[in-house]
Amino acid sequence: DWNMGTFLERAVERIRCQVGEEGRVVCGLSGGVDSAVAAALLARAIGDRVVCVLVDNGLLRAGERDAVVAAFRDHFAVELRVIDAADRFLERLQGVTDPQEKRIRIGHLFIELFRNEAAAIPHARFLAQGTLYPDVIESGGGADGPAATIKHHHNVGGLPAELGLELIEPLRDLFKDEVRKLGIELGLPAWFVGRHPFPGPGLAVRCLGPVEPRRLEILRRADAIFLEELRAAGLYDRTGQAFAVLLPVKSVGVMGDGRTYDETIVLRSVDTDDFMTADWSRLPHDLLAKVSTRIVNEVPGVNRVAYDITSKPPGTIEWE
Ligand code: XMP
Repeated sequence: DWNMGTFLERAVERIRCQVGEEGRVVCGLSGGVDSAVAAALLARAIGDRVVCVLVDNGLLRAGERDAVVAAFRDHFAVELRVIDAADRFLERLQGVTDPQEKRIRIGHLFIELFRNEAAAIPHARFLAQGTLYPDVIESGGGADGPAATIKHHHNVGGLPAELGLELIEPLRDLFKDEVRKLGIELGLPAWFVGRHPFPGPGLAVRCLGPVEPRRLEILRRADAIFLEELRAAGLYDRTGQAFAVLLPVKSVGVMGDGRTYDETIVLRSVDTDDFMTADWSRLPHDLLAKVSTRIVNEVPGVNRVAYDITSKPPGTIEWE
């Protein structure tokens, strides 16, 4: 792609100019595509003077941490530090059910951990973030609700100033589809750059009600089955975002010759270009049937599966 090639050259120049000959850059990886592409771009520009930090908050999807580590280890010669913090996040979230309170607590702990880690990296003078053009627009409009929270977590508000680091946002002129092209141009694998977006607060905002290990495990397993079948049906790349949600509602069912009273999973899949508006995906009934049967059979504690048929607006993509 000629345009992306030109963009890449200029972006590399700009980064070299800003960082100089000696500065080192700390790059926070969220597990998502944007921050990974930002890291790859920095690696191209300044090589091993970029240090990536991934906070494993215990709220990632099944296999997600390994996917990031693999994509990095196999494709770039940059240092990747993984902070194992699942227990600390769960402790902070104990008994919390309010969606915004979950986000606030996750955001604060993230900043604490990140600050400690960055302070221990010698000569770090810059912080890189994978902010995109839509994030820039959304955060300029005094938005509240989801747009404000995206900024709050995704872009770690206030952190560079507190750390005394200068901010680098090499993707701030790009849209999502352009970031994916740039990622390919930089050598990230297609399976990685094609991944659906995943919110900063992770499974905490898909685990409605209390966030506990047992409930997270149920959600993770149901979600993995849904995505596995969506991929097998060749539909993953044609949907904008797809995931499972665990409701704080039990319902009655019958299994074998016994009555059950178990958890409810909702499947959510949307078609969207910009994530500002979205339509629910018209997934084939046979696919939904297969996913439902597998979840109830394979995930202990779940006896009911529903499919969300709400568009955005009036619904949001996430349930919290
Ligand atoms: P909604 O639910 O507002 O989501 O329709 C729109 C897009 O934003 C993502 N999202 C978030 N991303 N932190 C994030 O980094 C958040 O708190 C957050 N809330 C929603 C959502 O996954 C979708 O892609």
